[in-house]
Amino acid sequence: HSIAILGAPFSKGQKRRGVEHGPKAIRDAGLVERLSNLDYTVHDFGDLSFPHLEKDEHFMHVPFPRSVGRANKLLSNAVSSAVGAGHTCVMLGGDHSLAIGSVEGHSQQCPDLGLIWVDAHADINTPLTSPSGNLHGQSVAFLLKELQDKMPDIPGFSWMKPFLSCTDLVYIGLRDVDPGEHYILKNLGIQYFSMRDIDRMGMQRVMEVTLDHLLSRKQRPIHLSFDIDAFDPSLAPATGTPVNGGLTYREGIYITEEIHNTEATAGLAVDVIASSLGQSREGANMAFQEIPSPKEDTEQLRL
Ligand code: ARG
Ligand code: MN
Ligand code: MN
Ligand code: MN
Repeated sequence: HSIAILGAPFSKGQKRRGVEHGPKAIRDAGLVERLSNLDYTVHDFGDLSFPHLEKDEHFMHVPFPRSVGRANKLLSNAVSSAVGAGHTCVMLGGDHSLAIGSVEGHSQQCPDLGLIWVDAHADINTPLTSPSGNLHGQSVAFLLKELQDKMPDIPGFSWMKPFLSCTDLVYIGLRDVDPGEHYILKNLGIQYFSMRDIDRMGMQRVMEVTLDHLLSRKQRPIHLSFDIDAFDPSLAPATGTPVNGGLTYREGIYITEEIHNTEATAGLAVDVIASSLGQSREGANMAFQEIPSPKEDTEQLRL
């Protein structure tokens, strides 16, 4: 069994710099040695290098669309090659907009993958619902077929098409969801476990339902996208978007142990992130009567 490590030092999915040092910080903390001690053959492919684009104007209020699109295209190719060569791929971010390319590249090789998204945030805004414009808060919207006609043509992303269904996705750890995101989660009937759900059910039950949801009908590979801000800020303070009341160390590790314990885990990518700009706590979706479409004049729906 072999593991490929890919670093993606990239931060333009949000407005703070710093997360591009994530891959080095995680390597310096001893990742390769720890994995080697587990008897894996570890191939560290080093860090990808992303081009600096001179001209990359905002699209609507979304900054750096072409840079983020290009970085994700590069990353997708790298992940796809690594998985195609038979490795379990671990991608180190970087900001969470990189999950677009990471999941896309994985799905190139494993079209029927299930996605577990561990995060304080749902990252399912479209450019029309996003309060911040930041693409790290929109990654999942790029992946979902059900949101295809809600997504405008964002420059930099013509290379990809959405490929995931909302039944292929489960969230764990949510506690800071924007109104438009809350509306989308409810409207599409996406399975999610907020911190409140975890308090009520316990993590053991949450993982049972999660894996049952994704694996009961068929065996399939799982993609794990883990935003470090899912943990409580007392454990992971160096994130751009800390939200109080997060996962304990034990809850976080229980999630990953349970995923390891499923034999269906053909691929496991860990998108580790130290991210940015926090927004409001979970809000009502009263501002939304429907998911705004790019065709309509949605100015009044912006927050
Ligand atoms: N929901 C907020 C936004 O859309 C925050 C997103 C935070 N995402 C993250 N990957 N840290 O901007
Ligand atoms: Mn987050
Ligand atoms: Mn995230
Ligand atoms: Mn981020």
